[in-house]
Amino acid sequence: MLEIIGLKKNYKKFTALNGIDLKVDEGQIFGFIGPNGAGKTTTMKIICGLLKPTDGQVFINNIDALQDIRRAKQYIGYMPDFFGVYDNLKVTEYLDFYSSIYGIKGNEKEKMIEDLLELVSLTDKADFFVDNLSRGMKQKLCLARCLVHNPKLLVLDEPASGMDPRARADMKKILNTLRDMGKTIIVSSHILSELSEICTSIGIISNGNIVISGDVNEVTNKVYNNKIIEIEVTDSVNKAEKILKEIDFVNDINQIGNKLEVIINGDNDNIRKILKMLVIQDVPVISLSKKTQNLEDIFLEVTKEA
Ligand SMILES: Nc1ncnc2c1ncn2[C@@H]1O[C@H](COP(=O)(O)OP(=O)(O)O)[C@@H](O)[C@H]1O
Ligand SMILES: [Mg+2]
Repeated sequence: MLEIIGLKKNYKKFTALNGIDLKVDEGQIFGFIGPNGAGKTTTMKIICGLLKPTDGQVFINNIDALQDIRRAKQYIGYMPDFFGVYDNLKVTEYLDFYSSIYGIKGNEKEKMIEDLLELVSLTDKADFFVDNLSRGMKQKLCLARCLVHNPKLLVLDEPASGMDPRARADMKKILNTLRDMGKTIIVSSHILSELSEICTSIGIISNGNIVISGDVNEVTNKVYNNKIIEIEVTDSVNKAEKILKEIDFVNDINQIGNKLEVIINGDNDNIRKILKMLVIQDVPVISLSKKTQNLEDIFLEVTKEA
């Protein structure tokens, strides 16, 4: 759906993007993660044809987006990281205005606006003035706006920034619904925990370079060669610890009550081996699970090295 190759952007002498490559397949929610100033907005603006890169290529739905901006734009819904002021415009009038830009008219338009308001849970605010909405509501309206032309690819620049926890949760739900509707989504954030549950793939950007990208699990595995597994026993914690200590791929063991947190390297087969060894030696294991790290941990780990 989207491919970026060797994208560079200089603002005068300053290099904001240092040749980045990214690929997002259809139907994915791609989390574009990085601290402030990393280059997220610059990348997103270039994807949407709002900024010219210094070098590189962008393909959207196999269209060369830098050569054929008009055609590529039909496929893109862009939600910028700011929301303008709209005096004296009601919520429906606002969506009406954007629909007209795309030549959507009559019953089709009315039905679409109704559906979009329902999608972002603003149906009861249809007659409110835009400027009287809360920040979270404005952002949801902004999201609805970028959907009027039914784009395949959504480019959302920090859609949940400044929202309260409840509005954030709503935003997550909406993104999942959009994915179910078949959209491909790129969503940026500098807050990782915000994206960890909903993204299918991620790319971490730091100082204009992609530090790591890929499937969420793939990235986790790349970042952590080590796996953490948690083993719970009814008793015999010390016996279990003794057995585990003898295993060569076990790197570290922490005891927490009747649980053992065991850091191992290698693949899942090693986890199976551990369980087998404990069971054979009669350790009463009642649970064994792989601890999944959240994106926040990965981010800290990766940017520390960068
Ligand atoms: N118009 C501009 N002129 C000069 N520098 C800019 C401009 N826009 C962004 N930058 C710089 O480029 C870098 C990347 O910015 P940006 O893409 O907005 O990052 P992010 O969205 O990840 O916070 C920052 O250091 C920022 O200061
Ligand atoms: Mg930004």
